[in-house]
Amino acid sequence: MSIPIRSAVFPVAGRGTRFLPATKASPKEMLPIVDKPLIQYAVEEALDAGATKLVFVTGSSKRAIEDHFDTDAELERALTESGKTDLLESIRNIVPSGVTCIYIRQGEPLGLGHAVLCARPAVGDEPFFVHLADDLIAGDTGCLAQMARQYDKQGGSVIAVEEVPHEDTSSYGIVAVDGDNRITEIVEKPAPEDAPSDSAVVGRYLLAPEIFDKLETTERGAGGEIQLTDAIADLLGESAVYAYAFEGTRYDCGSKLGYLKATLAYGLNRPDTGPALREHILEVLGR
Ligand code: G1P
Repeated sequence: MSIPIRSAVFPVAGRGTRFLPATKASPKEMLPIVDKPLIQYAVEEALDAGATKLVFVTGSSKRAIEDHFDTDAELERALTESGKTDLLESIRNIVPSGVTCIYIRQGEPLGLGHAVLCARPAVGDEPFFVHLADDLIAGDTGCLAQMARQYDKQGGSVIAVEEVPHEDTSSYGIVAVDGDNRITEIVEKPAPEDAPSDSAVVGRYLLAPEIFDKLETTERGAGGEIQLTDAIADLLGESAVYAYAFEGTRYDCGSKLGYLKATLAYGLNRPDTGPALREHILEVLGR
């Protein structure tokens, strides 16, 4: 039996410029899919995988995230008094008792690798999850829980991957693997002609703590940022890192189209909105 994964790191310091003006004063991770913010989907996935320590690496204009995971006694009282028990339940216990939220500021926007390194004092010397809330994954079993299961069998580090169109490799970390799905090469955002495959890293990582030592010395890479991908590349020679093809559908909620697709998929899948939304879509399409 492997060590359980207790910590989940959520790098949430990015400014979300692709969603301006919506993200001018409000974090992109608070954008809702139907009625729940992206970061809550992220937290629920981590809790479902057994995490009990939630580490948010935040930046400026991110206070709404802290408020969201805190108790709002006034709102709870108002909903209790007006008898709105369903709504009360939806805001209570978003973070169950026994689970700790830790907020760490990333002083400078130096990249994903730097954000993960900022979490080191909170995570300590044990394996941990990294979850990028932009990548929303719908499926029967949460992606992190699937990865934890894989880790139980295999150990090492585990990175979620999916095949992407060849022309899109420059938007992702791209991996090459051997016959056991052990990663032999990982490159951040290669041009299609330089990509070692079309297998792209999506925003879920289960990392051995040795990654922190690598990050300490990782220099700025693609886009002038300290890249997690480069630290992982450095780890490959010493410690096994496996690619994991998860089950589920990923929506890139960092892009407008992906966000709209997720909204439609989740809206259609819910009993309270699905049937009427389906009818409306058909009407709009003139069918
Ligand atoms: C980050 C990672 C990249 C990964 C992607 C998944 O890039 O650096 O390797 O493929 O997340 O969403 P970003 O999308 O933050 O530019």
